[in-house]
This record gives sequence, structure tokens and C-alpha cells, in this order.
Amino acid sequence: MKRAVITGIEASIPDYVLTNAELETMVDTSDQWIRERTGIVERHILKQDGLGVSEMGADAVRKLLSATGTKADDIDMVVCHTVSPDMLFPATANVISDKVGIKNAWGFDMGAGCSGFLFSFSTVDAFIRAGRAKKIVLVCGERLSGMTDYTDRNTCPLFGDAAVAMLVEGSDDPTIGLVDYENHVDGIGRHYLYQKAGGSMYPPTAETVARREHYIYQDGKTVFKYAVSNMADVSAAMMERHSLQPDDIAWLIPHQANLRIIAATGHRMGLDDSKVLVNIEKFGNTGGTSIPLALWDFKDRFKRGDNLILSAFGAGFTWGAMYYKWGI
Ligand code: UT7
Repeated sequence: MKRAVITGIEASIPDYVLTNAELETMVDTSDQWIRERTGIVERHILKQDGLGVSEMGADAVRKLLSATGTKADDIDMVVCHTVSPDMLFPATANVISDKVGIKNAWGFDMGAGCSGFLFSFSTVDAFIRAGRAKKIVLVCGERLSGMTDYTDRNTCPLFGDAAVAMLVEGSDDPTIGLVDYENHVDGIGRHYLYQKAGGSMYPPTAETVARREHYIYQDGKTVFKYAVSNMADVSAAMMERHSLQPDDIAWLIPHQANLRIIAATGHRMGLDDSKVLVNIEKFGNTGGTSIPLALWDFKDRFKRGDNLILSAFGAGFTWGAMYYKWGI
């Protein structure tokens, strides 16, 4: 049976760099606090009004089609993972398809918080395995700056914007592709990390705006507690399930929310720090985009067939781990 393989990967990163120094002028914080508690030094922000995730997503897809020599007409599915869509509807996948001239595809958006890449890649893998799609464009993109309250020091240092587009195809080669994944959800998380207003429960009103309920709320301490244990447990479980020893793993690509969560996951897996890929200092937390952003950023280090473990924890709660063999 064919497995899903990422055969091309390109990113779109907004030019504007929001530094810790600039944040110091906006809220009562310090470069030292942000570095020590999170590992973040700067993040990229899509500044201009009227531009959404589709702006970065379409840019990444154009680069992807060009880099892989793929015709837009040959794409049969476009899936976009985002919790910051251009609009609640239509799907941002449609908008991206229209902007880049993909006409023969169907597709949809998915939302799984910071586990978004794991959930969306395991979904498109199912279409590949079932033989229902041959060339899928998977876009993971977030414009989290648009829902970040830059008067709230608890959340405003954390988030950044970016989009990554991947070409996903099937392969019969057992030395590459998606081997296995384990995904989880627990709705208890909805009390600790959410955007309260703007949906059907609390439609937008002058009052919801005045109460700042359209911004990200996070109870950081509680989310941290769940994230540390669940991300480490599910990553260790994936190793056990496949009898993988630390030496068998080339790289861990963790969701980039907090350096301390990343370190705890690597240690639990018995990995040397040199195998744990980190770029949180440059991009901050880009939600479900952070794992593909790291795959793109570090791709020159990977060899075809390298064993990668990808793991994440996010809003919902959602969490999971994936065993993937690099296929480019
Ligand atoms: O990506 C999806 C899932 N999300 C995560 O995995 C994030 C999980 N949570 C975290 O990463 C951490 O909880 C944060 C980085 C968000 C916060 O770090 P923390 O070590 O848990 O800090 P805290 O919220 O417990 O706050 C500690 C202190 C507090 O002061 P007091 O009460 O001890 O006097 C905060 O008011 O730090 C204060 N504080 C700040 N100080 C300076 C909170 N934010 C800031 C800030 N600058 N930006």
C-alpha cells in the first residue's frame, strides 16, 4: 500500500520581524524573561491590513509548484490547516486554490490547534492510501498576530506568522514516508486555550470586542503542565511501538511552543540535544505551522530515509506523535 511522502516543501515568511526589544516598549516584559521562559527571541508578523493566511499560503504554493515542476492542473486536493482562516467561510483552501490557479482539485480546511500538521498530514495520508488522490497540496498557515492581544504580556510574546506548503504524493518505497502516527484529543483543554468570541456561541458584538474576547486566551501554567507530560508520553510511546532506540532516530522535530517543553520531550526519549531541532528563537510559536516550518528550515540536514519523530501538543487539547521517514 502506498504511503504519503512529502516530495516538496516551501515556506512563506512575512518580512516584518517583531523583536523582544520592541515588545519591551509595548508591555511590561523583558528580553530576559521571554528568552528564559520560552526560548523566543523574535517572530515574523504579517503587518498589512487586508491580508490573511491565504496571502502567505498562496505565495508558498506558487514557490512549491515552481520548485517541484508541478502543473496546477495536476493537483487533485488542497487541504489547509489553520485556526486563523481568512474568513470563517469559505475555506481558505478554496481561496488559495483560486489565487494560484488550481482548478481541478477539491479540498477543505482543518483546525486542530498546534497539532495541526500531525492531524492534517495523517488525514491526507488516508486519501493517498485509499488511492483517492495522487498529488495533494497541504498548506499549514497561521496569522496568529491577528488574534494576539498586544496589551497582554501573558500571550503577546509567544506567537508568530508563517505558511508552509507541501506536495504530498504516494510511494511504494518502504524506506520513505509516513510509517505511523498516534493522535489524541481531550476536550478539557477548551477551558484553558481558546478564542472565546466570533463563533456561533458568542457572535461578535460591540460588547465582545470591548471585553477583548476575540483575542487568544491561554492559561499558560495549566497548558504547560498538560503539554509537558502528554508530548513526552506520546513520543516515547511511538518509539516503544516500533522498538526504536535513541540511536535509531535521526531527528526529533517538536512543536515549537516552549523550549522547556521541547527539552522535556527530548530527554524523555533519551535523545541527545543535538538531535532535537529547535528554531523557536527565530519564529516563536506558529501553531500548527511550526513542525513543517522546522522541516523546511532544517531540510538540508536530512538524508533520504532518515527516521524522524514529529510531536506536538495544542489547543483542544490535541496532541500526537508521528514516525516519518524523510523522502526527498
Ligand atoms: O502551542 C500550544 C500550546 N501552548 C503551550 O504549550 C504553551 C504552554 N505554556 C507556556 O509555555 C508557559 O506557561 C508560558 C511561556 C506561557 C508562561 O511561562 P510560565 O513559566 O508558565 O509563567 P507564568 O504564566 O507562571 O508566569 C510567571 C510569572 C508571573 O508573575 P508572578 O505571578 O509570579 O509575579 C507572570 O505575571 O511571570 C509573569 N509574566 C511575565 N513577566 C514578564 C507572565 N508573562 C510575562 C512576560 N514578561 N511576558
